[in-house]
Order: sequence, then C-alpha cells, then structure tokens
Amino acid sequence: MKRSEPDTRMCVEGLTPGLFFHISSGFEPAAEIEISKKLGEYGAKHVKTQRGKLHFSLAVNHTVTPHVLQSVLGCEGAFVAVANVAGVSADEKCLEDFEKLPLVIGKEQWQAALKLWRFLHSQEEKDPKKLFPSTFRVTVKRGGKHNWKSIDAAGIVGSGMLSDDFKKMTGLDLTVNLKNFDLEVYVHVQHDAATVQLGINTMKNSNDRVSVVDMSLRGATDEGGKVIRLRSSVAANMLTLAEVKPGDILLDPFGGTGSIPFLASDRLQPGLALSSDLFPHPIKVARSAKRAAGAHLHHTEKSSASYELMQADAGALPVRTGSVDVIVSDIPFGKRSQDGATIKALLPKFVAEAERVLRPGAGRMVILCSARSPFQKLLFQSSNLHMEKAVTVSMGGIDDVRLFLVKRKKEATK
Ligand SMILES: C[S@@+](CC[C@H](N)C(=O)[O-])C[C@H]1O[C@@H](n2cnc3c(N)ncnc32)[C@H](O)[C@@H]1O
Repeated sequence: MKRSEPDTRMCVEGLTPGLFFHISSGFEPAAEIEISKKLGEYGAKHVKTQRGKLHFSLAVNHTVTPHVLQSVLGCEGAFVAVANVAGVSADEKCLEDFEKLPLVIGKEQWQAALKLWRFLHSQEEKDPKKLFPSTFRVTVKRGGKHNWKSIDAAGIVGSGMLSDDFKKMTGLDLTVNLKNFDLEVYVHVQHDAATVQLGINTMKNSNDRVSVVDMSLRGATDEGGKVIRLRSSVAANMLTLAEVKPGDILLDPFGGTGSIPFLASDRLQPGLALSSDLFPHPIKVARSAKRAAGAHLHHTEKSSASYELMQADAGALPVRTGSVDVIVSDIPFGKRSQDGATIKALLPKFVAEAERVLRPGAGRMVILCSARSPFQKLLFQSSNLHMEKAVTVSMGGIDDVRLFLVKRKKEATK
C-alpha cells in the first residue's frame, strides 16, 4: 500500500517492522550471513538488501537486546526501521515535502517503530522516563545529486515533528536538542529514495560496538603513530566470506597491525592465526595490542596461543607448501601506502606464494585490493587459483576497491 496524503510527491511504502543494519557496500551478503546466524534465533529474518543496508524483520519479544545487536561485527550500526520513502526529488521544492514526511509516514508505522525502539531500550535503560522520548534530533545523510542541503532537510523534517498534527498522531511531545537527545531520527537519502530510521541509543555509532580486538588496536594505534588499519566491520565480513572453521590455519601476509588474524583468533578458534608484515612498526603496534587485549579476549587461552606475529615479505613467505587453509588480507594500496610500482612488482610474487602455501583442493583466499591493481589479471593467469567472486566495495568513501574470493584448485603445484 502506498500513502501519499497530505499533498506531497513523496510516497511511503509499507515496511515490515524491524531493523536496518548499515554495512560497507559490497559486504551486504557477508553481513547477511552473520546477522542471520546471530539473530535468527530471535526470529529475525532478512527482508531486503539495499546498497549499504540490510533490512531484517524483528518482532518485539523478550530476549533480543542491544547487546545482542552489538555482537554483529560486520555492521557499522543498527537502526529501527520506520519507513521506506520514494519520490525524493533533486529539486529545491523537495524541502517542502520533507516537512510533511513525518505525517505522510502515518500512525501505524510510527507506532510499530516506536514500540520496537522502546522494547530495545527497555532491555538496558534504567530510567523508564527515557522510554518516552521528550527530546530529539533529525540527521539527514545523502547520496546522489540534490539541489538542497542535508542540514536544511533535517531542520525541516524536525519542524514537521514539532507540529500539533504529528503530536496528535504519535503522542510524542518533543523538543529539539541536538546534543542531548532521547530520540534520533535518521533519514538516509539515496538519489530519489529514502529510509527513515530511529537510532538505538546504546549503538549511537560504530565506536560503541567495537570488539576487544578493536579497542586494543585503537589504543595501540594511538600509541604507535601512523599505521593504516582496516575497519573491524570489514575484517569481520572478510572472515565470514572466508568461512574460517575451528582449527584452520589462517594467514594474513600483509597483516599490518594484525586486525584480521587478531579478530579471527578472538572469535573463530583457528588452529593458528598468523599475521605477517614486512615492516617492524605495524608489528610493534600489533604486539602492543595483543598485550593490551590480554585476559579480555573471548577464548583467552586459545586466542593468545593461536595468534602469532611474524616479519616476512609477502613475496617470499617462510611458510610450508600446502599448509595454509585460509588467506585473508588487504593488500596495500592508495597514496598513504607504498608507491604503485613497488606493489605492482610485488603482486606476481605474492600470487605465486599464495598458490604455493594454500592447501590444494581446500585452501581459500579473501583479498581486498585496489580495483586498478593487476591482481585479477594475475589470478586469471594462475593455473591453480580459481576466482569465485569479485565485487566492487566501498569503504569510508573509497570506491575503487575490489574484493576477491579465490579457491585453491586440487592440482598440486610443480
Ligand atoms: C593495507 S595494510 C594492512 C592493514 C592491516 N589489515 C591492518 O588492519 O592493520 C598493508 C600492509 O602491508 C604491509 N606490506 C607492504 N609491503 C609488504 C610486503 N612486501 N610484504 C609484507 N607486508 C607488506 C604494510 O606494511 C602494511 O602494513
């Protein structure tokens, strides 16, 4: 059913009550696997994938908590779904429609969303008054070209929520507070469509949802100065795609601060998670993070025993032939990394080494690299590596990144 009264070009589409999980785009299928696994037992079901977002249905029940949501490592935030909106125009006149949007969404959808929002907060909120929000702010984020500004749209949606009609419809009597708000209404516009969502206060941003690994690395990174570190949500999604099993030997030959093997050792019980890097500085940071994590690691003894650091060239790995089950790695690229020529010369050596060390017939590899790198061409030239999947991903505004899922064929290397 579509609703578009009062007079506006925006249309609200009926939506299953539930959550939107925000994901770095390209990683939606990996995150879907993790969310289905972790929230399936609470009745959550995948409804729809949109770019950078997964919609899961979630009924109000008595077990799911924001804490459970925080255990999903592959997402960058979770929000209560309020509405899908079509008919967002680039025209400045669209701002008038934003004022009507809170009303266009309609009573039923606001009530369903607020019920779920209250339920989630009631699990951890000590002050019952906070379950009936009195302050709010609106955030608008945009993708695409529009002749209006997000901040103006946010102000206008906000004024729609201050109207008597909105108050009557929802029972919410709100005042604006940009810093100390009980309720955050988040409007995410993608070209001519938008989603309206409610922030979950214990998950205000991804910083609240970091793992022990991430916290340890953050502290160590700050101490150590300039190192390039992969976001933990991306590392988690890469590990999901690699289907790491307990007991597996995992190698990251461009390990840097060790974020991928560190996370694997904390969560997935590999036999060994080995982080290798050519340079001493990131290894020093990795070592300090490992020490900082100490007793907080999930599988403490196994974790510290299974996570190892090593200094080596990814083009000449001191690793036995056919001994590695999984390689998961992000290859250096971009201006902050080494010069392009060095990486270009290294890649054929690395691909040959990957082919050598991966277990024939079972070994697999998940690699993140520049879309401009010759990595894909090298895979095609390799007789023992098979590219299963290549996806363009976008991470923190960088769009020219490719993700590869590669399998080691059965044939033994010569
Ligand atoms: C994109 S970063 C990896 C970041 C890592 N995933 C993390 O989260 O810290 C690439 C790493 O490759 C390392 N590197 C560059 N050339 C290398 C080589 N020939 N062999 C091994 N590591 C190398 C760099 O020192 C850098 O730490």
